[in-house]
Amino acid sequence: MSTSVRHSLLGAVTFLFALQTSSSSVTTTPAFLLAGSNDHSNHQYSSNIQPARTTTRTIRQLFFSQSNRIMEETEEQSLSGSYSPQTTLRILALHGSEGDANEFPRRLSALNQTLMKYSINLDITAVEGPFPKGSGFSWWTMPPGVRSFNAKEYEGFEESATRVLDCWKNNDFDMVLGHSQGAILIASLLALNRAPYHPKRGYIFNGVSFPNPYTQDVASLTVVPTITPSLPPKILFILGQNDKITPNASGEQLREGLSKAGFQVDSCYHKGGHGIPLQNDPEALTTIARWIYDDNDSSTSEL
Ligand SMILES: *[C@@H]1O[C@H](CO)[C@@H](O)[C@H](O)[C@H]1NC(C)=O
Ligand SMILES: *[C@@H]1O[C@H](CO)[C@@H](O)[C@H](O)[C@H]1NC(C)=O
Ligand SMILES: *[C@@H]1O[C@H](CO)[C@@H](O)[C@H](O)[C@H]1NC(C)=O
Repeated sequence: MSTSVRHSLLGAVTFLFALQTSSSSVTTTPAFLLAGSNDHSNHQYSSNIQPARTTTRTIRQLFFSQSNRIMEETEEQSLSGSYSPQTTLRILALHGSEGDANEFPRRLSALNQTLMKYSINLDITAVEGPFPKGSGFSWWTMPPGVRSFNAKEYEGFEESATRVLDCWKNNDFDMVLGHSQGAILIASLLALNRAPYHPKRGYIFNGVSFPNPYTQDVASLTVVPTITPSLPPKILFILGQNDKITPNASGEQLREGLSKAGFQVDSCYHKGGHGIPLQNDPEALTTIARWIYDDNDSSTSEL
């Protein structure tokens, strides 16, 4: 099946280097405009990364556990020498409730800018939720007032799961990333052991909460690594300390559950709200970029 046919069937949109960073994209998540710091010093940078109660390692430890070289570099210096030129990072991206496959990749443009410094091109495949909601779409529906972290069921979940899994299994993604309800969908698929494979650069959950209908599945889950030589799949939790939409305790509960199941979990706390970190939070963006490329695979072993 050709790419374009597949995409029109799935309602998925692939963005290949077509997006511009513009100030208008920054205004989509106002909470972040209030947050962030311009202090680029290492001290500020490190203090922004807080050890999480249940994480096996924190990002900060993780940097120090690598060679010192990465810590000696300043924000401005490129790490491109460590990578083969123009590495492409293929990501499957799932928007949050009321988002869509057109706008969501634009929310990743700040992360894209940061990754460009590492000579990494983001190749984003955004799948769109099936259910119209607000000006966009959702992945399931719930009775009024009910939220994903206390819902008894996600109505329409199976339709969304099929749509996402079709795209996931037919592509070789390096990473699977979700925001809010999109992240909860990925977490639910992990809880149900339905991931076709674990992407080698892992998962990023932004503003996630606990998938309440799958509480028992999380509790009884044991992850089977599919990555050679058998490193546990890794998940980065991006949590806003001023997130008023998704209480970070709910994300922490999920992190704890998936850690017990055998995932390697890491956390990036930042001072923003529910949105994905933007240009005004270079510390968070750098943390995320470094996390993506921290592993033991041969292409980055020089780090
Ligand atoms: C990433 O940024 C580069 C440089 O600005 C741009 O050419 C490219 O289109 C962007 N890609 C995405 C997926 O945003
Ligand atoms: C979690 O969110 C609360 C506010 O809801 C905040 O006070 C707290 O600092 C956050 N937790 C962490 C570890 O940042
Ligand atoms: C890399 O592998 C070594 C053992 O081969 C292990 O001790 C170390 O923790 C690994 N580092 C990471 C970041 O996974």
